[in-house]
Amino acid sequence: MTTSFQFLWGLFLSLSLYSIPSTPTPHVHIVYLGHTHGHDPLLTTRLHVRLLSNVFSREAEAKEAMIYGYKHAFSGFAAMLNSTQATTLASVEGVISVFRSKILGLHTTRSWDFMGLTLGPEETTPMQLKYGDDIVVGIFDTGVWPELDCFREEPDMGPIPKSWNGTCVKADKFDPKKACNRKLIGARYYIDGFEREFGPLNTSGDAEYRSPRDRLGHGTHTASTAVGSVVRNASYFGLAPGTARGGAPRARLAVYKVCWLKDLQGRCSEADILAAFDDALHDGVHVMSASIGSSPPLMPFFSTSSDIGSFHATQLGVAVVFSAGNDGPDSSLVQNVSPWGLCVAAGTVDRAFPTQMVLGNNVSMMGQGFITREIKMKLVDSGRFFDDGSCSLDKWNGRKLASGRIVLCFSSVGQVSSTVAALSVLAINGSGIIFVESISRQTVQDDFLPTIHVDLYEGTQMLYYIQSSKDPSVQIFSSKTNIGHSPAPSVAYFSSRGPSSISPNILKPDIMAPGVNILAAWSPKSSPTLLPFDGRSVVWNFDSGTSMACPHVSGIVALLKSAHPDWSPAAIKSALMTTAYMSDTSSDNILAGGTLKAADPFDVGAGHVNPLIAIDPGLVYDMDARDYVLFLCSLGYTEVQIKMMVLPSPSIDTSCSGSHSDLELNYPAIIISNLQSTVTIKRSLRNVGRSSVVYFSSIKNPEGVYTYVWPRFLVFSLHKKTISYYVTITPIKQSQGRYDFGEIIWSDGYHHVKTPLIVCVNNLGDGNRDAATHLSA
Ligand SMILES: *[C@@H]1O[C@H](CO)[C@@H](O)[C@H](O)[C@H]1NC(C)=O
Ligand SMILES: *[C@@H]1O[C@H](CO)[C@@H](O)[C@H](O)[C@H]1NC(C)=O
Ligand SMILES: *[C@@H]1O[C@H](CO)[C@@H](O)[C@H](O)[C@H]1NC(C)=O
Ligand SMILES: *[C@@H]1O[C@H](CO)[C@@H](O)[C@H](O)[C@H]1NC(C)=O
Ligand SMILES: *[C@@H]1O[C@H](CO)[C@@H](O)[C@H](O)[C@H]1NC(C)=O
Ligand SMILES: *[C@@H]1O[C@H](CO)[C@@H](O)[C@H](O)[C@H]1NC(C)=O
Repeated sequence: MTTSFQFLWGLFLSLSLYSIPSTPTPHVHIVYLGHTHGHDPLLTTRLHVRLLSNVFSREAEAKEAMIYGYKHAFSGFAAMLNSTQATTLASVEGVISVFRSKILGLHTTRSWDFMGLTLGPEETTPMQLKYGDDIVVGIFDTGVWPELDCFREEPDMGPIPKSWNGTCVKADKFDPKKACNRKLIGARYYIDGFEREFGPLNTSGDAEYRSPRDRLGHGTHTASTAVGSVVRNASYFGLAPGTARGGAPRARLAVYKVCWLKDLQGRCSEADILAAFDDALHDGVHVMSASIGSSPPLMPFFSTSSDIGSFHATQLGVAVVFSAGNDGPDSSLVQNVSPWGLCVAAGTVDRAFPTQMVLGNNVSMMGQGFITREIKMKLVDSGRFFDDGSCSLDKWNGRKLASGRIVLCFSSVGQVSSTVAALSVLAINGSGIIFVESISRQTVQDDFLPTIHVDLYEGTQMLYYIQSSKDPSVQIFSSKTNIGHSPAPSVAYFSSRGPSSISPNILKPDIMAPGVNILAAWSPKSSPTLLPFDGRSVVWNFDSGTSMACPHVSGIVALLKSAHPDWSPAAIKSALMTTAYMSDTSSDNILAGGTLKAADPFDVGAGHVNPLIAIDPGLVYDMDARDYVLFLCSLGYTEVQIKMMVLPSPSIDTSCSGSHSDLELNYPAIIISNLQSTVTIKRSLRNVGRSSVVYFSSIKNPEGVYTYVWPRFLVFSLHKKTISYYVTITPIKQSQGRYDFGEIIWSDGYHHVKTPLIVCVNNLGDGNRDAATHLSA
């Protein structure tokens, strides 16, 4: 007993202090105290000040250090603390965690890495247009440009839902009387954490707005993707004209501006994000969408604002959708991995821009690009201008300019991105670039300099041609728009992949949605490329990233919530996951961009989201408070702490007797990341279809294990809505560290409830790996 207690305590201390580097300078810290015990906000605030006063000599100092008090949906505060103060607070009874507030980024690929430029077509379906009137979607992002057509109120829109408690604030260049309506029903902004980190916001010359108005464009883009009203004739400079609309065009929009433009990027302080969660839950949003995060290493659960905010949201029945991050295609870099959040990967759509080129020797080649005017010019190798041949400006030899020339650049030389290469060639007055990189990348296009992307085979032929010709040249024809492009969808190469680096037994990402070349609304104050020399203004723009995939799912969640108001966030997630598909438009397995290999659940989660089927999934894996209690037990929290975190209710058992593992969580996917010997897993399914029905199981066995599911069939009736089943998995090979993929499918002949089954057999004995797994189990 003693040893296990000490072990837990040791683990716990290291968890709660994980992110506090020892430094005397004060930084923004977040102190998390669990739920609010039903205290009135005033009392909670007094508690916060008293707690903070413990680490300051005078109460005035404590008040000065306080940045936010979180007091509606959960209890805690953000304050300027040095490491001594943070450590002292972490040891106070009743404090669950203390962590340094990080600066998160937007999960868009736009900015310096590369830029989007094409259209993601969304089909219009009757179901998608019907629902959503009663649902409020909260977007945590860079704000909104409220005057755009997609945020207008429709004449047939009902009154604002009675449950709505939110507000539309009056602020810098934001007049709520003009900005807000029955569509955009809430708008707030959070900047105190940002300003403590970066100093006062620069608002001169419209550099930013101290208000919910969007300077950057990203928030307008994600909001219109999730809930934008139908707008005809949307296009990017007349390109790809068509009808644009969000996933739930009738749903209401509440904007929470937590990210601010600084150095051409959106920067979001965790202290601000948590304040937005606290307000949004009190305001009464039904779905939250947050396309933000920060790259691994991941902080422990309850040491990040997103995990804390979404945990309390989930307990209040509010679903929170996050982006998976843009750190792909390497494995284990997925972000936003809490079991109560939805984590979305990005996929491509079936659109491409084939571009024909004819070299001076009459050889014809195809690339991908966005070329509006035919070009005929001299073609030169990057080695003429750059010392090491890489197209990066700091390697410019300083002698020659590339005026009137198309420059051939290889991504493999110097590992530059196409954007860096194009900017470098532009800086030496080049007229265009041909950028050579692996075809598996499915790259999006830049448009500040004519750019054509070609595969290594074509690029190498071009290089040989240049080297063997006296006067090499190339003629480039206008790009064509090709819809029905195959393969599609495939996983965007940048989309972050699983397994989760902190809880490998929980599948992340959960699901995939379109995130490459998405056309959506944009702030007219921001240029389409964000580049300082780009003086253009657009109200529709292309962008790529898991940032764009996330609001697709948020819109779909709004539709499901509207169709099934009584479904919990876990039930909605289950419906999305068990109905997702793994095959592309050619009925092949979805490809994992960046690899040319078939995708597995660590790339796509359960698969590509399938809204029309998700609305009628047949069965769902639900989770209730007890499931979360057991998960907290598995993380090593004590019963006292769990009581502080899980909303009190007379029927909830908050005890942690015995040992617990995250394998027990009723998740709509089964992963056993450390299978040493036979394991039996329990899952429970709730019938949400017609009441009397029989489901039969079938198994796609992962390689190297024997899988047994019992019972073989589940008989649901009016009185038997929830039934448990068991899966016994036995390794039949000697192996280590290799994941194998299978599936369990429950079917009544009409519904197919698919559950990914993923195992990693580890029976060759490796002390380190065992120790690591024990810690998380
Ligand atoms: C932290 O701040 C407290 C209160 O202002 C002060 O007493 C203490 O010396 C500081 N610690 C360090 C390491 O600077
Ligand atoms: C603030 O923004 C203006 C307009 O963009 C710019 O000219 C100025 O340099 C910025 N000031 C600072 C301190 O960054
Ligand atoms: C659509 O937009 C184009 C270009 O912006 C314009 O020429 C055309 O008249 C518009 N069509 C409609 C139906 O509004
Ligand atoms: C809305 O505000 C009222 C009064 O303050 C409160 O009772 C109610 O719980 C709030 N709704 C939500 C969803 O928090
Ligand atoms: C390329 O084709 C054109 C016309 O088809 C011809 O005039 C020209 O001589 C050819 N050039 C080479 C290098 O073959
Ligand atoms: C680059 O081209 C522009 C216009 O084409 C010209 O004005 C400028 O002088 C050129 N830059 C250099 C360094 O030659």
